[in-house]
Amino acid sequence: MVTGGGSGIGLAASRLFARRGASVVVADVDEPAAASAARAIAEEGGTAEPFAVDVSDDTGVAAMVAFAVERFGQLDCAFNNAGVSPGFSAFHDVDPDDFARVLAVNLTGVFLCMRHELRVMVEQGDGGAIVNTSSGAGVVAAPGQPHYTAAKHGVLGLTKVAAAEYAGRGIRVNAVLPGTTDTPMLRRYLETNPGVEKLILRTMPAGRLARPEEVAEAAVWLCSDAASFVSGESMLVDGAQVAR
Ligand code: NAI
Repeated sequence: MVTGGGSGIGLAASRLFARRGASVVVADVDEPAAASAARAIAEEGGTAEPFAVDVSDDTGVAAMVAFAVERFGQLDCAFNNAGVSPGFSAFHDVDPDDFARVLAVNLTGVFLCMRHELRVMVEQGDGGAIVNTSSGAGVVAAPGQPHYTAAKHGVLGLTKVAAAEYAGRGIRVNAVLPGTTDTPMLRRYLETNPGVEKLILRTMPAGRLARPEEVAEAAVWLCSDAASFVSGESMLVDGAQVAR
């Protein structure tokens, strides 16, 4: 199950999970995007079902997890990736409603997904793997985005608590931390802020943006049995953007 599966990193991950043999629930608030992703996967010979969900709505999230189990028999892996990026503004100018909206999707959304996924995985009794999308902004400041930074730091907290609590039940919980990645989210921002791409590239030692497929590889690996003793990990996929 992949949230935010209709676009960017989630779309790349949905396709990669399907190529590696998973039956995928492509969940997204953008229903046409989820449907089109599921169709693309089917055309590539994979198995996928779209599901419309707003991850900040507990009832919707419960229905999404129930749908995955009902449709495919059980839930083995979940990639909690849906997120929104606010604009940049001085800390003292951040609108409290904007702050609440970013936290609702990027942090509470991950919590709600984990809550229902963990419950089902515990009931199933044979382990499972959860990967949450944080960000470089989960470990360092993104100046101008206190809400985004707080949410992405918070995702790492949720990841560590769940990893510790559920390790004894064979459920692994990890986070992937993308660097600046070439997705529709970033393109939307760059369209309204021409010239910023050059500044972003200066922060990237590799001299290029991450590709969504590169982040997807890490998420799929963390979910796979190859990562059988990896839990509580925060994996940067950023070409050393944070390390520099
Ligand atoms: P994107 O905008 O291309 O895709 C995000 C998807 O999430 C969209 O399909 C959107 O409809 C969906 N979504 C948004 N709100 C939702 C909600 N309430 N419920 C369900 N679905 C919702 O963005 P991108 O870049 O692929 O981002 C994916 C994740 O990666 C996000 O959590 C983002 O914060 C994170 N990230 C992205 C970076 C980047 O540079 N693109 C860098 C670091 C982290």
